[in-house]
Order: sequence, then structure tokens, then C-alpha cells
Amino acid sequence: MKINGGIPLKGTVKTQGAKNAALPVMAVCLLLRGETLTLDNVPDLYDINTMIELLRALGVEVQVNDSRAVFNVPDELKWEAPESLVRKMRASSLVLGPLLANFGRVSLPLPGGCSIGSRPIDLHLKGLKQMGAEIDIQDGVVHASIKGRLRGRRIYLDFPSVGATENLMMAASLAQGETIIENIAREPEIDNLAATLRCIGVPVELEGTGGVRIQGIHRGHSGRERVIPDRIEACTYILAGVMTNGHIRVEDVVPSHIDAILAKLEEAGAKFSVRRNVIEIFPSKKKLHPVSIKTMPYPGFPTDSQPQMAAALSLSRGVSTIEESVFQARFLYAQELNRMGADIQISRDVAVMVEKLHGAGVKATDLRAGAALIIAGLAAEGETRVDDMVHVWRGYEAIDQKLRALGAQVELV
Ligand code: UD1
Repeated sequence: MKINGGIPLKGTVKTQGAKNAALPVMAVCLLLRGETLTLDNVPDLYDINTMIELLRALGVEVQVNDSRAVFNVPDELKWEAPESLVRKMRASSLVLGPLLANFGRVSLPLPGGCSIGSRPIDLHLKGLKQMGAEIDIQDGVVHASIKGRLRGRRIYLDFPSVGATENLMMAASLAQGETIIENIAREPEIDNLAATLRCIGVPVELEGTGGVRIQGIHRGHSGRERVIPDRIEACTYILAGVMTNGHIRVEDVVPSHIDAILAKLEEAGAKFSVRRNVIEIFPSKKKLHPVSIKTMPYPGFPTDSQPQMAAALSLSRGVSTIEESVFQARFLYAQELNRMGADIQISRDVAVMVEKLHGAGVKATDLRAGAALIIAGLAAEGETRVDDMVHVWRGYEAIDQKLRALGAQVELV
């Protein structure tokens, strides 16, 4: 993407459906037999297409019309997830729990490491074992099976992993008896998953302080649910507005989902208003104040917004610090932002310091790093070229068109 920076953004942008909510709720269809799941507000993204391909490879008939996706599930499905698709996307591991619970058997190539750090699935497997599954790993492939049904249990997650919470909630949905999972992730995507499980007939109760109680059922029925708005995409546009000193409205946002980011923006002195589901960013003559950030599981500051926030803080007056506590290797973007004039030093924390960015040729090292470089390019003087856009298309629908509608000069080359 070629970006001619330095133009204040102006206008309105609407948030897409959330990638990280759509992926698990699509996997919910694997709990059905001879029934249909309908989802609205499904974004058009590479990762979503990979999940559609994976579900089709397993035997689900999928129809997509605009942002509505319909999943017709036959009485039997295949239980082997193809390696080529699992390698493409780590979230493919979300088929593990529901396939095992519904068909008693599943083979899943272990998703490997990735550029933001090691991402094991030990917590997913530990929980499934506690529910009675037999798990055997051979030549990098997980083979899980259960005679009869999984058994409801009390499970404590050693870390509130988003993916493990989702896999185990889906597995518990068809288990015999009640499952209580403690220390679960409480990201808004988990509420969306709970609502989708309820829509196919599973009694799910999320408890205030990090627990969930699920009554296993024999068989799910057809249902329909809506994917929540993408809080990470919304924040990317909010930060682009702030960084370019623009005047933009970001629509279809649930403000309570992005409290951590709005609080930091307020602390940094950004000018914005919050009205129902719209965030409006106002131009400001003052530079941002530096702030300190530590990423944490929800409702803490989201790791997926950390690189974009670092780009914004590159324009603050002074030194900001960022501590990443969720993934080990989420600072690959720093080297790229430094090519644009930022001064980011990495020790245990990251210091971000600079007041002006200039255009440069840079590389998207992963999805959110790519987003950070694009918004940095929008605020930088001169031309920026972001390579390896393939990462960005995994999570941002029509980002070039949306930015052009806000007056940005961007072009795909
Ligand atoms: C999800 C999101 C991702 C986001 C992350 C944290 C999707 C598709 N992806 O990823 O965008 O950055 O949540 O908010 O929703 N861990 C283990 N063992 C496990 C599972 C996780 O050690 O079995 C560790 C991981 O290595 C990582 C941390 O827990 O350090 C968080 O991972 P997790 O919450 O599981 O993230 P994902 O579900 O992979």
C-alpha cells in the first residue's frame, strides 16, 4: 500500500463485524447435525475465508451473501482438519472442541509458532482431557477421541486464554452434565460466543468474575446470531483520526468494549466524544502527552491494539512506555516504525519517543503491526510504502477504500 501522508482524515467510517468474534461463532456450527446456523455481520476477510474453507473441507455447506453466512450441517462430518488450512491460520484450532464433542473424534495438525510469539494449545488440550478425552500427539498432529460423550467437569484455566475458553465452552455444550470453567477470558468475543451457543439451545451462564457455567445438551437446533462490531478495527480508525489531527466519526462501536483505549487516549489529551455507538474524534492543536501502557487480558489494554497505540504515541511529546504481557514477541513493528523516524528502544518495556514521522518503505510483520504502519504512514510526511499487506487483509475489510472515503491518499500497488 502506497500512502501519501500528512492529510487530516475527515468523514465517517463504519466498523466491520469482529474477526475474533466471527471465527469462534462460525465454529459453533460444528455442534449441529442436520441443522443450520445463520450469522449476520460476518466481515469479508482472509481469515474468515480460511475458516469457511476449513468448514467446507469438513463437510459443512456454507453460503455467504453480503455479510450473512449460512452454515448447513449434514448428519456426519469429517474429523480430519487439513494441514494446509490449519497452517494458514492458528484460529483453525477452534474446530477441536466442537468436533470432538459432536463426533467423538478429531485430528488437528498442531498450529506452529507465529511471528508474535509461541502460541501453544496446551490449555485447550488439558481441559479436554479433564472432560475425559484421550489425546495423543503423533508427528505434530493432535488425535483426540472420546468413547460416548465428554463429561462435564469443573475446570480451572491456568491463564485466561481466549482460544482455550472458546474451545472448552463449545466442548462443554454437548458434554454430559454441567461444566464450570473458572478463570476464563472475559473478552467481549466470549459474550458473543455465549449468545451464539444459547441460540442453538445451550444453557450458558457467564458469571461476573471470570467463570462460566454450561449445561451440556444432546443436540443443538438451528439458530441465528449477529457478530459484534470489531473493537480492534474501530480503535485503528480512532487512532488514525487522532494521529492525523483529523475530524472523523467511527460508527457501530460498543464504547464499553474499548474503555481501556479511550481511557489512555483521554490521559494523553486526545479530543473525542462518545455518544451511544459513535466515537467522534476532533482535531487538536496540542500534541499527545506520553503515557504508560501494559497489555493485559480484557478488560485490560488489548495486545491487539498495542502496535497501533505505539504508532500514535510516536507523535507524543516525550517518552511513553509499553509493556507487553500477553505475547512475547509483539515488538517486531518497532524496527519498522524506527525507519519512519520513531525512536523505539526495546528492553523489557518499550520506550516510544519522537514527534514527527516521515515516510519510508516498511514491512508489515504481522496483522496489527501492518495496521500500525499504515496509520503511521497516514500521519507521516511524504510517501510510505507498506509491503506484505497480505497480513493486513487477514483482519481489515477494504481498508484502502475506507481510508480513501476519509480523504486519505492511499493506493494498492
Ligand atoms: C486471541 C485472538 C488474538 C489476541 C489474543 C489475546 C482470536 C482469533 N485471536 O488469540 O487476536 O491477540 O486472543 O487477546 O481470537 N497460551 C498458552 N497455552 C494455551 C493457550 C494460550 O500458553 O493453550 C498463551 C499464549 O501463548 C499467549 C497467551 O496465552 O501468550 C494468550 O493467548 P490466547 O488468549 O489463547 O490467544 P488466542 O486465543 O490465540
